[in-house]
Amino acid sequence: MGDPWLSAYDAALRVARKAGAVIRDAGEKEIKVCTKSSTVDLVTKTDERVEKIIIGALREQFPDHCFIGEESVAKGEPCILTDKPTWIIDPVDGTTNFVHGFPFVAVSIAFAVNKELEFGVVYSCLENKMYRGRNGKGAFCDDEKIEVSDVKDIHKSIIISEHGTDRSCEKVEKIFSTMKKILCIPVHGLRGSGTAATNMCLVACGAVEAFFEIGIHCWDIAAGAVIVKEAGGVLLDVNGGPFDLMSRRMVSANNMVIAERIIKEIEIFPADRDDAPIKKK
Ligand code: IPD
Ligand code: CA
Repeated sequence: MGDPWLSAYDAALRVARKAGAVIRDAGEKEIKVCTKSSTVDLVTKTDERVEKIIIGALREQFPDHCFIGEESVAKGEPCILTDKPTWIIDPVDGTTNFVHGFPFVAVSIAFAVNKELEFGVVYSCLENKMYRGRNGKGAFCDDEKIEVSDVKDIHKSIIISEHGTDRSCEKVEKIFSTMKKILCIPVHGLRGSGTAATNMCLVACGAVEAFFEIGIHCWDIAAGAVIVKEAGGVLLDVNGGPFDLMSRRMVSANNMVIAERIIKEIEIFPADRDDAPIKKK
């Protein structure tokens, strides 16, 4: 059998580029902002429009496939990963950046079969960089092969973490306590681009050694997970166990030495799984 998912991969690259052009164009105009789970969890008409464009194009070509899209889930669609071929889509990763004109916004499209990620595409559309990775076939930024950094000494690392959109004091305290402990190891620096997908690509291309977060969603990290793995990096749960796409927590790093050193410092707090049954209000 040839390459069963090549046409899906090509379709992902095409539609990611198209979506990125729509986002760039929309950023030039007035942006109307609404909120979702909290007053700092933003959404715009562009998020919804771009998701429709992506899912519309992919569904036309692959009518039997399943879709998990951030904005569809926000509207009540299920967020369950089955064995069926499934697309996992964040149309605008970095919506807050998009709203403020902060220059990191990504389109993130991943594809899984039998619950295994086959490929991921992250188009950092304001920088016009196309990151991509396919299971067993390496990771690339545009046409260049990318690899994680070879730093093993945590003191020589840059680490990314984000604070997400939950502002409950207890969680914010744990997030900043973790960041303080990591900063004081000491590491060379702490960073954050405001988009989880881009953060993972920064791990993949060796610009930073690790990115971790509790509270992210599967659509933020699915594509980046393939890219990090294919660039030679590692993915773990924040407790050191195996990476679980639906768990809303993850450490991505250049190697196990850095990942395990960071994990020692992470103060874990609960986050409902993406595939948890919807709570009745
Ligand atoms: C957010 C970004 C951000 C991360 C949040 C995500 P969105 O995604 O990836 O970096 O800290 O946890 O929700 O809402 O811009 O698609
Ligand atoms: Ca989004």
